Parts: sequence; C-alpha cells; structure tokens
Amino acid sequence: MIEHIKRARLRGRDGLWDIALSGGKVTAIDTSGASVSEGNVESASLTGTTVDAGGRLVCPPFIEPHVHLDAALTAGQPEWNRSGTLFEGVQRWAQRKAFLSVRDVKSRALRAIQWQVASGVQFVRTHCDTTDPKLTALHALLELREQLADVVTLQIVAFPQEGIVSFPRGEELMVEALKLGADVVGATPHLEFTRDDGVRAVKTAFDLAERFDRAIDIHCDEIDDEQSRFLEVVASEAHHRSMGQRVAASHTTAMGSYNDAYAFKLMRLLSLSGISFIANPLVNIHLQGRFDTYPKRRGLTRVKELLAAGCNVCFGHDDLFDPWYPLGTANMLQVLHMGLHVCQLMGYEELSDSLKLVSSNSAKTLGLTDYELEIGSDANLIVLDAIDEYDAVRRQSAVLYSLRGGRVIAETKPSSTSVNFDGQSVPIDFSHRREAGEGA
Ligand code: FE2
Repeated sequence: MIEHIKRARLRGRDGLWDIALSGGKVTAIDTSGASVSEGNVESASLTGTTVDAGGRLVCPPFIEPHVHLDAALTAGQPEWNRSGTLFEGVQRWAQRKAFLSVRDVKSRALRAIQWQVASGVQFVRTHCDTTDPKLTALHALLELREQLADVVTLQIVAFPQEGIVSFPRGEELMVEALKLGADVVGATPHLEFTRDDGVRAVKTAFDLAERFDRAIDIHCDEIDDEQSRFLEVVASEAHHRSMGQRVAASHTTAMGSYNDAYAFKLMRLLSLSGISFIANPLVNIHLQGRFDTYPKRRGLTRVKELLAAGCNVCFGHDDLFDPWYPLGTANMLQVLHMGLHVCQLMGYEELSDSLKLVSSNSAKTLGLTDYELEIGSDANLIVLDAIDEYDAVRRQSAVLYSLRGGRVIAETKPSSTSVNFDGQSVPIDFSHRREAGEGA
C-alpha cells in the first residue's frame, strides 16, 4: 500500500507537492521540501510505500463515460463492417448478438477493462444492449461489475440498441434490466421507426428513471440528419422534471448539422436544463459524414459552443474494436487527441485545460463524488509521464502508476528511444522543454 507520493506536480498549482495517503484516502497535500534538477523531471520510482513522482503530473484517474463493453473486441465477427456506417454496424452486431454467451461477453469485457486500467481509467460507464430477450450481456456485465469493484467502478446503462418502442417487448426488457441492477436508463430515439416513437421512447426512459431512481444516458441524434431533434425533447423533459443533473445526452451529432438559428434557440434550453453531454470523437469522425460527398461534415456535436455556454461536456471512446469502430486500445488520451483536433480546441489555454474533458467533466456526468485530488478524497490517483496537461496531451503520455485506494493497480515502465547521429547515440524523449540558449 502506498503511503506517500513525493515531488508531484498538480493541476492548477505551481511547484512540487507531497501527498500523504492513509486508509484509502488522501490525508495531506503539502508543499514538497525537495526539488528536481534543472531539466525539471527526474525518473519516477516506487520504493517500499513511497512513489517518487520526480516532478511528474499526478491527477485523478481518467474516466470512460461512454463505451460498449458488450460488443468490445468483436470486429470482423462474423463479418467486417465494410461501408463504415453506423447502420451496417447495427446489422453486424445483430448477427454477432445471436452467438453471445455470458462467458464470451465476460472474457472480452475483462480484456477491454484491463486495457482501460492499464491506461489509467478507473471509472467506466458502459452501455449494454437490452434488445436481447435473454439479456445475456447484461448478466455478464453485472457479474463483472461486482468481481472487479476493487479496480474499476462500473456503471451499466440499459441500452435499447434496436429501440424501446420499435423492438418487440422493448420496454419490458428495459424494466427487467433495471430490476436486475442496471445503473442507468438509456434510449435510442433516432433509431426508433418514427419521430413519434422516438419521442415516446425518450418519455418512457424518463418515466423509468423516476420509477427506479436511476440516472439517464440517451444515445441522442447520432445521425447527420439535421431534422433529428430529440435533443430538445431530452432537455425539455429534464428541465420540466428537474432531473438535469442526472441526465446525459450522448453523441448529439445532428447538432453539428443544425442551422445556426435553431442551434442558437436550442442553446438556451440546454443551459437551463443542466444536462451533460458526451461526445465521442474517435467513433463519430469515423461513422458520420458517410452519406456526404463534399463538403463532408465532421459529424460531431458543437463541443466548443456548448462549453462556452457553460454546459458540461466530456469525451468517450464509445466503440472498441467492434462492428462500429475497427481500432482502439481504450486509451482516453487518444480520444482527447482526436476530440481536440476535430472540435478545434487547439488554443494554448484550451490545450492546457483539456484533461478535464476525460476527467473532471466526466466525473460530473457520472455523478461521482470524492473524485478530485483533495484532502479527504479517495486515494485514486495516476502518475503521468508528463510535466503538465499540455505535455500529456501532446506526447500521449503513459500512465506510470495508477493507484486505487492507495494500492498500485497498474504500472508502465517508460520506454527509451535513441537515434544515431554522426556515430553518436542521442537519447530522445520528445519533451518540449527549452534547452539553454534556445529562443529569445
Ligand atoms: Fe454509443
């Protein structure tokens, strides 16, 4: 069990800090008496009950607010999604779903969670398809939620991939999933047969959330159709029922296609409602815009504008080597990297304050408490191979240590690279620290 972290850099604070941990909690955060050498970073190390961060960034763990663990690692089974559309993904998944078993889902989801934990993730909200009369995947993920509770906090969304209204017994299956223990109510209004069915699905989801006292996370308007306007229904229901703090709208990619007059009007309701947004840049830059010629839409929601309006926005990976997305290693820094590009959040201040999109903002979306690095909070921390947030994003830094309740649950040994110039081996670290004599 780790009791001290020495020479840590912290978000929003200057200098070096020592952190004391005890009983699974952070018990003290003090200015460090030690320093680091001129290069500003020394090797991080673990000795006994002490982690010496060596001047590296220590922060709360990353959060995965939107993933589909039931489908993870099924790409190409039984066929690849050759068109790259969301709709072919649904078809391929329907084929694969026929062969699900609890053992199959558990082994794939476990590997995906191991990848997540290795990348510094400790909190995961996963969707789980309920349009399966046997709810096989749900049984598997409920078992994993309990078995892995000491390394990861799993929230399971009852997710009706083929609809609540359009799928036979769709609502009944949702109720069954919630009774079995699903944490969050989902919906897919834009995939229901008609606009009216979609509105009914949203209202049903809110009714179920009230009845079972659960949060809501809706796959909302994940389509390039500028007429897909279920977000206004979600925000309106959240506002009227005063449930905004427990509601997330995932994807909302159609918002990227709305005309500006409508988007401007909508923004007021979104702010009033207090709902959170989860954008999924890796998957949506891949799936959306598939029916466009040129200009080709980016297919992401209006992240920059939502943030400017004071709305809570975070990023999720969404799919992981499955029928909708053929790549991915569950690393949230890859998600962030893509999101910052596609949403054009590349100003210096935006980059320097960007980790919140895969951490603090996600914690708010998931309703987590004791998350931030403060005295009295849970001793869940990661040590990044970076001086600061900017450095972590630019270099896609490894998570050297991940601590859960003070226990090391993941460790990465830094790699080393050198180049041979003029017969001399020169070590390379890709850092951006300015050497003496460089620049003005
Ligand atoms: Fe999704």
